[in-house]
Amino acid sequence: MSNHNTAALLLEYFDKHKRALPWRGVNDAYKTWLSEIMLQQTTVKTVTPYYEKFIAKWADVHALANAPLDDILREWAGLGYYSRARNLHACAQSLSVHFPQNAADLAKLKGIGAYTSSAIAAIAFHEPIAVVDGNVERVWGRFRTINGLENVRRDLQTYVPHDRPGDFAEMLMDLGATHCSPRNPTCALCPLNADCVAYNTGKIAEYPAKKLKKPLPEKRALCFIYVNEGRVLVETRPNKGLLGGMSGVPCSEWVLAADFNMAEALGEIKDYTIKNTVIRHVFTHFALELTPVIVHDKRAGRYIDISDHNEAFPTLFNKVLASLSLE
Ligand code: ADE
Repeated sequence: MSNHNTAALLLEYFDKHKRALPWRGVNDAYKTWLSEIMLQQTTVKTVTPYYEKFIAKWADVHALANAPLDDILREWAGLGYYSRARNLHACAQSLSVHFPQNAADLAKLKGIGAYTSSAIAAIAFHEPIAVVDGNVERVWGRFRTINGLENVRRDLQTYVPHDRPGDFAEMLMDLGATHCSPRNPTCALCPLNADCVAYNTGKIAEYPAKKLKKPLPEKRALCFIYVNEGRVLVETRPNKGLLGGMSGVPCSEWVLAADFNMAEALGEIKDYTIKNTVIRHVFTHFALELTPVIVHDKRAGRYIDISDHNEAFPTLFNKVLASLSLE
Protein backbone atom coordinates (compact mmCIF):
# COMPACT_ATOMS: atom_id res chain seq x y z
CA MET A 1 0.00 0.00 0.00
CA SER A 2 1.25 3.51 -0.74
CA ASN A 3 2.21 5.86 2.08
CA HIS A 4 -0.76 8.01 1.18
CA ASN A 5 -3.15 5.06 1.44
CA THR A 6 -1.73 3.99 4.79
CA ALA A 7 -2.37 7.48 6.17
CA ALA A 8 -5.88 7.53 4.67
CA LEU A 9 -6.67 4.16 6.25
CA LEU A 10 -5.49 5.36 9.64
CA LEU A 11 -7.47 8.60 9.42
CA GLU A 12 -10.61 6.74 8.44
CA TYR A 13 -10.14 4.46 11.42
CA PHE A 14 -9.52 7.50 13.65
CA ASP A 15 -12.81 9.08 12.55
CA LYS A 16 -14.69 5.94 13.53
CA HIS A 17 -12.82 4.68 16.56
CA LYS A 18 -10.80 7.46 18.19
CA ARG A 19 -10.82 7.52 21.95
CA ALA A 20 -12.99 10.33 23.31
CA LEU A 21 -10.44 12.31 25.30
CA PRO A 22 -11.17 15.75 26.78
CA TRP A 23 -8.24 17.45 25.02
CA ARG A 24 -9.31 16.21 21.57
CA GLY A 25 -11.06 18.41 19.02
CA VAL A 26 -10.56 21.49 21.21
CA ASN A 27 -8.68 23.66 18.71
CA ASP A 28 -6.88 25.43 21.54
CA ALA A 29 -3.08 25.34 21.73
CA TYR A 30 -3.15 25.97 25.49
CA LYS A 31 -5.18 22.83 26.07
CA THR A 32 -3.01 20.78 23.73
CA TRP A 33 0.15 22.02 25.44
CA LEU A 34 -1.24 21.36 28.95
CA SER A 35 -2.42 17.85 28.05
CA GLU A 36 0.87 16.94 26.38
CA ILE A 37 2.91 18.08 29.40
CA MET A 38 0.66 16.06 31.71
CA LEU A 39 0.84 13.02 29.42
CA GLN A 40 4.65 12.91 29.58
CA GLN A 41 5.42 9.64 31.44
CA THR A 42 1.81 9.41 32.64
CA THR A 43 -1.19 7.45 31.37
CA VAL A 44 -4.35 8.92 29.85
CA LYS A 45 -6.41 7.45 32.71
CA THR A 46 -4.32 9.16 35.40
CA VAL A 47 -4.09 12.45 33.52
CA THR A 48 -7.79 12.93 32.67
CA PRO A 49 -9.10 14.15 36.07
CA TYR A 50 -6.04 16.39 36.55
CA TYR A 51 -6.47 17.91 33.11
CA GLU A 52 -10.14 18.63 33.78
CA LYS A 53 -9.35 20.17 37.16
CA PHE A 54 -6.67 22.42 35.66
CA ILE A 55 -8.90 23.60 32.81
CA ALA A 56 -11.76 24.33 35.21
CA LYS A 57 -9.42 26.34 37.43
CA TRP A 58 -7.20 27.97 34.80
CA ALA A 59 -9.13 28.29 31.55
CA ASP A 60 -6.34 29.86 29.51
CA VAL A 61 -2.61 30.37 29.47
CA HIS A 62 -2.90 33.84 31.06
CA ALA A 63 -4.80 32.45 34.04
CA LEU A 64 -2.16 29.76 34.54
CA ALA A 65 0.70 32.24 34.13
CA ASN A 66 -0.84 34.44 36.84
CA ALA A 67 -1.49 31.59 39.28
CA PRO A 68 0.83 31.23 42.30
CA LEU A 69 3.26 28.33 41.81
CA ASP A 70 2.11 26.86 45.14
CA ASP A 71 -1.45 26.51 43.82
CA ILE A 72 -0.19 24.73 40.71
CA LEU A 73 1.98 22.39 42.79
CA ARG A 74 -0.98 21.61 45.05
CA GLU A 75 -3.21 20.72 42.10
CA TRP A 76 -0.38 18.69 40.55
CA ALA A 77 0.15 16.60 43.72
CA GLY A 78 -0.10 12.89 42.93
CA LEU A 79 0.70 13.27 39.22
CA GLY A 80 4.46 12.81 39.78
CA TYR A 81 7.52 14.23 38.02
CA TYR A 82 7.02 17.55 39.78
CA SER A 83 9.62 19.46 37.78
CA ARG A 84 6.92 19.37 35.08
CA ALA A 85 4.69 21.56 37.25
CA ARG A 86 7.45 24.09 37.84
CA ASN A 87 8.33 24.13 34.14
CA LEU A 88 4.63 24.42 33.31
CA HIS A 89 4.39 27.62 35.32
CA ALA A 90 7.58 29.12 33.84
CA CYS A 91 6.47 28.09 30.37
CA ALA A 92 2.96 29.55 30.82
CA GLN A 93 4.53 32.93 31.51
CA SER A 94 6.51 32.76 28.31
CA LEU A 95 3.61 31.33 26.25
CA SER A 96 1.23 34.01 27.48
CA VAL A 97 3.47 36.57 25.75
CA HIS A 98 4.17 34.55 22.62
CA PHE A 99 3.00 31.04 21.73
CA PRO A 100 5.44 29.54 19.19
CA GLN A 101 3.58 27.73 16.42
CA ASN A 102 6.17 25.26 15.18
CA ALA A 103 8.06 22.34 16.70
CA ALA A 104 11.54 23.87 16.38
CA ASP A 105 10.56 26.99 18.37
CA LEU A 106 8.42 25.06 20.87
CA ALA A 107 11.40 22.80 21.61
CA LYS A 108 13.34 25.82 22.90
CA LEU A 109 10.96 26.12 25.87
CA LYS A 110 11.56 24.61 29.30
CA GLY A 111 10.14 21.13 29.74
CA ILE A 112 9.35 20.68 26.03
CA GLY A 113 11.49 18.11 24.26
CA ALA A 114 11.44 16.62 20.77
CA TYR A 115 8.33 14.52 21.38
CA THR A 116 6.18 17.15 23.09
CA SER A 117 7.13 19.93 20.68
CA SER A 118 6.21 17.79 17.68
CA ALA A 119 2.94 16.66 19.33
CA ILE A 120 1.86 20.25 20.05
CA ALA A 121 2.92 21.48 16.61
CA ALA A 122 1.11 18.65 14.79
CA ILE A 123 -2.08 18.72 16.89
CA ALA A 124 -2.52 22.44 17.57
CA PHE A 125 -0.80 24.00 14.54
CA HIS A 126 -1.11 21.26 11.89
CA GLU A 127 2.62 21.10 11.22
CA PRO A 128 3.21 17.96 9.14
CA ILE A 129 5.74 16.42 11.48
CA ALA A 130 6.19 12.86 12.79
CA VAL A 131 5.38 12.47 16.51
CA VAL A 132 7.26 9.58 18.08
CA ASP A 133 7.18 8.52 21.71
CA GLY A 134 7.81 5.02 23.04
CA ASN A 135 4.34 3.83 22.02
CA VAL A 136 4.54 5.14 18.48
CA GLU A 137 8.06 3.73 18.19
CA ARG A 138 6.59 0.31 18.97
CA VAL A 139 3.59 0.62 16.60
CA TRP A 140 5.58 1.94 13.67
CA GLY A 141 8.62 -0.21 14.43
CA ARG A 142 6.43 -3.31 14.11
CA PHE A 143 4.52 -2.07 11.06
CA ARG A 144 7.73 -1.44 9.17
CA THR A 145 10.18 -3.70 11.10
CA ILE A 146 12.42 -0.81 12.07
CA ASN A 147 14.26 -0.48 15.34
CA GLY A 148 15.40 2.72 17.03
CA LEU A 149 13.43 5.89 17.65
CA GLU A 150 15.35 8.04 15.18
CA ASN A 151 15.03 5.43 12.40
CA VAL A 152 11.31 5.16 13.08
CA ARG A 153 10.92 8.94 13.09
CA ARG A 154 12.65 9.31 9.73
CA ASP A 155 10.51 6.63 8.13
CA LEU A 156 7.25 7.81 9.69
CA GLN A 157 7.90 11.36 8.47
CA THR A 158 7.38 10.16 4.88
CA TYR A 159 3.86 8.99 5.76
CA VAL A 160 2.59 12.08 7.62
CA PRO A 161 -0.47 13.48 5.80
CA HIS A 162 -0.16 17.24 5.31
CA ASP A 163 -3.86 17.87 5.83
CA ARG A 164 -4.31 16.06 9.18
CA PRO A 165 -0.93 15.53 10.89
CA GLY A 166 -2.38 15.81 14.41
CA ASP A 167 -5.11 13.24 13.86
CA PHE A 168 -2.55 10.93 12.26
CA ALA A 169 -0.26 11.28 15.32
CA GLU A 170 -3.13 10.70 17.74
CA MET A 171 -4.28 7.63 15.81
CA LEU A 172 -0.85 6.05 16.25
CA MET A 173 -0.92 6.96 19.96
CA ASP A 174 -4.32 5.24 20.22
CA LEU A 175 -3.03 2.10 18.52
CA GLY A 176 -0.10 2.05 20.96
CA ALA A 177 -2.52 2.31 23.86
CA THR A 178 -4.97 -0.28 22.51
CA HIS A 179 -4.27 -3.01 19.92
CA CYS A 180 -0.50 -2.61 19.65
CA SER A 181 0.27 -3.18 23.32
CA PRO A 182 3.79 -4.24 24.36
CA ARG A 183 2.70 -7.77 25.30
CA ASN A 184 -0.13 -9.77 23.69
CA PRO A 185 -1.13 -7.22 21.03
CA THR A 186 -4.54 -7.82 19.44
CA CYS A 187 -3.24 -7.77 15.87
CA ALA A 188 -6.35 -9.42 14.44
CA LEU A 189 -8.28 -6.24 15.30
CA CYS A 190 -5.66 -3.73 14.15
CA PRO A 191 -6.43 -1.63 11.06
CA LEU A 192 -2.78 -1.94 9.97
CA ASN A 193 -2.58 -5.73 10.11
CA ALA A 194 -2.72 -6.42 6.36
CA ASP A 195 0.51 -4.48 5.82
CA CYS A 196 2.20 -4.89 9.20
CA VAL A 197 5.50 -6.55 8.37
CA ALA A 198 6.21 -7.84 11.87
CA TYR A 199 2.72 -9.36 12.13
CA ASN A 200 2.89 -11.01 8.74
CA THR A 201 6.35 -12.47 9.34
CA GLY A 202 5.79 -13.58 12.96
CA LYS A 203 8.28 -11.04 14.32
CA ILE A 204 6.11 -8.96 16.64
CA ALA A 205 8.25 -9.93 19.65
CA GLU A 206 11.39 -8.53 17.96
CA TYR A 207 10.06 -4.96 17.81
CA PRO A 208 11.03 -2.92 19.62
CA ALA A 209 14.35 -4.68 20.33
CA LYS A 210 14.78 -5.31 24.05
CA LYS A 211 17.09 -2.84 25.75
CA LEU A 212 19.25 -4.13 28.55
CA LYS A 213 17.96 -2.36 31.61
CA LYS A 214 20.50 -1.29 34.20
CA PRO A 215 19.20 -1.80 37.73
CA LEU A 216 18.25 1.47 39.42
CA PRO A 217 20.50 2.76 42.19
CA GLU A 218 18.98 2.21 45.64
CA LYS A 219 18.82 5.14 48.06
CA ARG A 220 17.96 5.12 51.74
CA ALA A 221 16.86 7.68 54.30
CA LEU A 222 14.86 8.13 57.47
CA CYS A 223 11.66 10.11 57.57
CA PHE A 224 10.79 11.74 60.84
CA ILE A 225 7.35 11.56 62.38
CA TYR A 226 6.91 14.23 65.03
CA VAL A 227 3.57 13.79 66.79
CA ASN A 228 1.80 16.37 68.92
CA GLU A 229 -1.65 15.58 70.32
CA GLY A 230 -2.28 13.09 67.53
CA ARG A 231 -1.15 15.53 64.82
CA VAL A 232 1.89 15.03 62.58
CA LEU A 233 4.51 17.62 61.63
CA VAL A 234 4.72 18.43 57.93
CA GLU A 235 6.92 20.89 56.10
CA THR A 236 7.30 22.41 52.66
CA ARG A 237 10.34 20.97 50.95
CA PRO A 238 12.96 23.37 49.57
CA ASN A 239 12.19 24.52 46.01
CA LYS A 240 15.34 22.98 44.58
CA GLY A 241 15.63 19.21 44.18
CA LEU A 242 13.20 16.34 43.87
CA LEU A 243 9.64 17.05 45.10
CA GLY A 244 10.78 20.67 45.55
CA GLY A 245 8.08 22.97 46.92
CA MET A 246 5.83 20.01 47.84
CA SER A 247 4.58 19.09 51.31
CA GLY A 248 6.10 16.16 53.16
CA VAL A 249 7.40 14.93 56.48
CA PRO A 250 11.03 15.86 57.27
CA CYS A 251 13.64 13.39 56.02
CA SER A 252 17.32 12.76 56.44
CA GLU A 253 19.34 13.24 53.26
CA TRP A 254 18.49 10.62 50.60
CA VAL A 255 21.82 8.82 50.13
CA LEU A 256 22.96 5.73 48.26
CA ALA A 257 22.14 2.67 50.38
CA ALA A 258 25.83 1.80 50.67
CA ASP A 259 26.53 5.25 52.19
CA PHE A 260 23.64 5.16 54.65
CA ASN A 261 24.67 5.69 58.25
CA MET A 262 22.05 5.57 60.99
CA ALA A 263 23.80 7.96 63.42
CA GLU A 264 24.38 10.50 60.65
CA ALA A 265 20.79 10.22 59.48
CA LEU A 266 19.46 10.74 63.02
CA GLY A 267 21.69 13.80 63.54
CA GLU A 268 20.57 15.76 66.61
CA ILE A 269 17.58 13.51 67.29
CA LYS A 270 17.97 11.80 70.68
CA ASP A 271 14.62 10.34 71.70
CA TYR A 272 13.03 8.19 69.02
CA THR A 273 11.51 4.86 68.03
CA ILE A 274 12.45 3.31 64.68
CA LYS A 275 9.43 1.74 62.97
CA ASN A 276 9.65 -1.82 61.81
CA THR A 277 8.59 -0.99 58.26
CA VAL A 278 9.98 0.60 55.11
CA ILE A 279 8.29 2.71 52.46
CA ARG A 280 9.57 1.97 48.98
CA HIS A 281 9.11 4.35 46.10
CA VAL A 282 10.61 4.22 42.62
CA PHE A 283 11.61 7.46 40.91
CA THR A 284 12.91 7.68 37.35
CA HIS A 285 16.58 7.45 38.26
CA PHE A 286 16.62 5.64 41.60
CA ALA A 287 14.55 3.68 44.10
CA LEU A 288 14.14 5.03 47.61
CA GLU A 289 13.56 3.23 50.89
CA LEU A 290 12.34 5.45 53.71
CA THR A 291 12.27 4.13 57.27
CA PRO A 292 9.82 6.06 59.46
CA VAL A 293 11.17 7.14 62.82
CA ILE A 294 8.79 8.35 65.51
CA VAL A 295 10.55 11.28 67.18
CA HIS A 296 9.72 12.01 70.80
CA ASP A 297 11.81 15.23 70.91
CA LYS A 298 9.70 18.38 70.64
CA ARG A 299 9.80 20.52 67.53
CA ALA A 300 7.74 23.53 66.49
CA GLY A 301 6.12 23.59 63.08
CA ARG A 302 3.00 22.90 61.08
CA TYR A 303 1.10 19.93 62.56
CA ILE A 304 -1.82 18.31 60.72
CA ASP A 305 -4.45 15.70 61.47
CA ILE A 306 -3.48 12.94 59.02
CA SER A 307 -7.05 11.63 58.77
CA ASP A 308 -8.54 15.07 58.16
CA HIS A 309 -6.53 17.70 56.31
CA ASN A 310 -6.42 19.48 52.97
CA GLU A 311 -2.69 19.27 52.24
CA ALA A 312 -1.73 17.75 48.90
CA PHE A 313 1.17 15.32 49.25
CA PRO A 314 3.18 13.62 46.54
CA THR A 315 2.64 9.86 46.41
CA LEU A 316 5.83 9.08 48.40
CA PHE A 317 4.55 10.95 51.45
CA ASN A 318 1.02 9.64 51.06
CA LYS A 319 2.57 6.18 51.37
CA VAL A 320 4.40 7.26 54.54
CA LEU A 321 1.24 8.71 56.08
CA ALA A 322 -0.84 5.68 55.05
CA SER A 323 1.65 3.42 56.83
CA LEU A 324 1.08 5.42 60.03
CA SER A 325 -2.69 5.40 59.88
CA LEU A 326 -2.72 1.60 59.45
CA GLU A 327 -1.59 1.19 63.04
N1 ADE B 1 -0.27 10.49 24.85
C1 ADE B 1 0.39 11.62 24.66
N2 ADE B 1 -0.32 12.51 23.97
C2 ADE B 1 -1.50 11.93 23.70
C3 ADE B 1 -2.68 12.33 23.03
N3 ADE B 1 -2.75 13.53 22.49
N4 ADE B 1 -3.68 11.45 22.94
C4 ADE B 1 -3.57 10.25 23.50
N5 ADE B 1 -2.51 9.80 24.16
C5 ADE B 1 -1.47 10.63 24.26
